[in-house]
Amino acid sequence: MIVIDNLLTSDEVKQFRSALASIPFNDGKETAMGMAAGVKNNGQADAQHERTQHLANLLLAKLGNHSKVVSAALPQRIFPPCFNRYSESQNYGYHVDAAIMRIPNTPDVLRSDMSMTIFLSDADTYDGGELVIQTGFGEQHIKCDAGSAVLYPSSSLHKVTPVTKGERVAAITWIQSMISDPQIRQTLFELDQAIQSLIATESANREQLDQLHHVYHNLIRQFAAV
Ligand code: NI
Repeated sequence: MIVIDNLLTSDEVKQFRSALASIPFNDGKETAMGMAAGVKNNGQADAQHERTQHLANLLLAKLGNHSKVVSAALPQRIFPPCFNRYSESQNYGYHVDAAIMRIPNTPDVLRSDMSMTIFLSDADTYDGGELVIQTGFGEQHIKCDAGSAVLYPSSSLHKVTPVTKGERVAAITWIQSMISDPQIRQTLFELDQAIQSLIATESANREQLDQLHHVYHNLIRQFAAV
């Protein structure tokens, strides 16, 4: 599970929130597949609406250019983000995200390797509405401030607890990674983060950095399915 702080600036969050306020929201059940429909209780911005598609494209561009997102997910495909809203007493019970998703208006499908929630409401503006993810170390409860995001394995069981006060607005998306194996992907992320922090120290030896880069890229070459 990886937190991406300040994916969006506070101005960008305001821009998203004010645009979303003018877009019709539908019952989230309409887009839930199979068993998820039975536990999904939220609103979802009309995906066919021109303004929703514009916002989704803005967010896609942000994600594709964000170094930590790229490093952590090594994305091959990113699903156009969806925007959801939980008003008081709304929630989404435990579910698993669909493994294969059809990308709207294209012949392409995506295998969901990582799920992402991008928070658009500040944590102190609503009660409840926590993203809860089951992990090998028990339940993780996540609530980030507006503009920050969390990446987690799509294979995990997860839920959003009922909002008891206020309103929780967020974007969600799914990523197909070039590296399907989560452990290899995680190790590559750690290696890249170590290289980046070495680069940030001015005393780093250029030749040794080149050797590490060489190893990193050859591992990508070995494991990436593109
Ligand atoms: Ni989900």
